[in-house]
Amino acid sequence: MCKINCPLRAVIKKRQAVIRMDTNMTDRSGKTIPVRMNTAGLFDAYQVKAKQAGVNLELENEEELPIIEADANRLRRVFTNLLDNALKFSKNDGTVTILTDQTEKDIVVKVKDEGIGIDPQDLPFIFESFNRGKGAEKKKGFGLGLATVKAIVEAHGGQVLVKSELGKESIFKVILPKERVEHEPLE
Ligand SMILES: Nc1ncnc2c1ncn2[C@@H]1O[C@H](COP(=O)(O)OP(=O)(O)OP(=O)(O)O)[C@@H](O)[C@H]1O
Ligand SMILES: [Mg+2]
Repeated sequence: MCKINCPLRAVIKKRQAVIRMDTNMTDRSGKTIPVRMNTAGLFDAYQVKAKQAGVNLELENEEELPIIEADANRLRRVFTNLLDNALKFSKNDGTVTILTDQTEKDIVVKVKDEGIGIDPQDLPFIFESFNRGKGAEKKKGFGLGLATVKAIVEAHGGQVLVKSELGKESIFKVILPKERVEHEPLE
């Protein structure tokens, strides 16, 4: 392993800095504004990609979600990352479903797929940068999408959870508070 001037390490450091900068909602480009989660817009935007991937895309909107305080661009990246994963790890002719729901305090958006699933041994690590589970090596990627998702959701005071069954399905659940929770800015 190289200790000095390791190009890979430099790339990793730079990328981690980018993730931190990108999810720091106190910087000037990342102001939060009142936003309504536009799952219908995401659904429309992903129709072509889904078709190309041989996947059926469905939208189950329980009801219109309320407006929340959020950084619209970064929030969109959360769901594009989750949808890109769902399509990438789907089986041919599988279904990817976007589901929305809400509780008294939170809005909930789930992305469910009928893909390869995630090995229980890999599950605790998939939100770490550069971590890819078994089977992922057949697909393109660096293992950065979910680290970005987690950082953005947590910067909004929310949580991202995953449930998966190997060979069957994965469900990513994003919970975002309706009221902005004050938080320490990310480093
Ligand atoms: N929907 C999914 N189905 C099965 N495995 C998944 C799914 N989403 C994520 N994973 C697993 O979690 C790992 C980490 O996901 P992540 O999005 O961070 O990386 P990636 O998609 O491999 O690469 P990148 O996002 O950088 O293109 C994946 O490599 C894969 O093993
Ligand atoms: Mg990804």
